[in-house]
Amino acid sequence: MSSFFLLIFLIIIQPWSIKHIQAQKNIFILAGQSNMAGRGGVTNDTKTSVTTWDGVVPPECNPSSSILKLNAHLKWVEAHEPLHQDIDMLKTNGIGPGMVFANFVLKKNSQLGLVGLVPCAIGGTNISEWEKGKVLYNHMMKRVKASLNDGGSVRALLWFQGESDTVSLRDAQSYQTRVHKFFIDVRDDLQSPLLPIIQVALATGLGPYIEIVRQAQMSIDLLNLKTVDAKGLPLQPDGLHLSTPAQINLGKIMADAFLQFIPSSSHIYHNVSSISNEATSSIGISSCVSHIYMLPLFITFLTMMSQTFL
Ligand SMILES: *[C@@H]1O[C@H](CO)[C@@H](O)[C@H](O)[C@H]1NC(C)=O
Ligand SMILES: *[C@@H]1O[C@H](CO)[C@@H](O)[C@H](O)[C@H]1NC(C)=O
Ligand SMILES: *[C@@H]1O[C@H](CO)[C@@H](O)[C@H](O)[C@H]1NC(C)=O
Repeated sequence: MSSFFLLIFLIIIQPWSIKHIQAQKNIFILAGQSNMAGRGGVTNDTKTSVTTWDGVVPPECNPSSSILKLNAHLKWVEAHEPLHQDIDMLKTNGIGPGMVFANFVLKKNSQLGLVGLVPCAIGGTNISEWEKGKVLYNHMMKRVKASLNDGGSVRALLWFQGESDTVSLRDAQSYQTRVHKFFIDVRDDLQSPLLPIIQVALATGLGPYIEIVRQAQMSIDLLNLKTVDAKGLPLQPDGLHLSTPAQINLGKIMADAFLQFIPSSSHIYHNVSSISNEATSSIGISSCVSHIYMLPLFITFLTMMSQTFL
């Protein structure tokens, strides 16, 4: 008789589980400065100093009903370029890596479902401004927590920053300690100690100490941190910002880096889920795994029922 009740329970729970999986958003945090916000196709009129975006959206950056973004009002909307337009409001935004990343991840892994982008990058900012407790950090965390309100899980932090920390030797030398602390703080606050992080090693900088910051980025030793290199990608005429073709390249490289986390990540997520709290955890994969795991059980009970009642 108890198996009968279990069966009823499974019948009730199973369609809910499947619906739950479909509604799961794969959330990505996009943070850093201008090259993450996106300046591809943005030019500066040398006479008037007016910056404009050329409005060119390559197919790799096209919108899709599977790619959402959390807008400045903390609402999910269909994402389109320029992704950071309502976030990095004081600057002219163009093409960044975010849309390419999302399109490419979905192309390579069509079972993933929905991608939810949370743009947080602000042009011209230095690593000290991203320190836990300061405005940019709080703004980002507020947005991430809001993004989790109607389900989903944070899959990765995408980080491209440091150009502003190449001006003074002291800042460049402090970069590693500061960015390391930033990554740890984000993981702590999301209660996701192994949250995948994909950081971009600088292509350019505002000052002379680019190599010091790059070295700092390359030598951070954290589990589940992948560093991809933007050095050598084509730049806008300003010599500071990645061009649209460069951003397309970068978005794909970042997507590849993220996809490397997927095959082996179910164990990692499983462990993380046991110590995360429901609201802010990255339990996406493990919850899918556990629901799918119930399916054979469900079928067995269906078979049992048909034998009992027919
Ligand atoms: C545009 O160019 C002018 C002159 O070269 C420069 O002073 C200004 O900072 C530039 N603005 C941007 C947003 O790049
Ligand atoms: C970071 O930027 C802020 C705002 O522009 C500035 O006040 C601060 O001095 C900078 N900090 C460092 C360490 O460069
Ligand atoms: C994750 O869990 C598995 C199985 O419970 C265990 O063998 C492994 O050591 C755990 N890994 C970590 C990083 O805790």
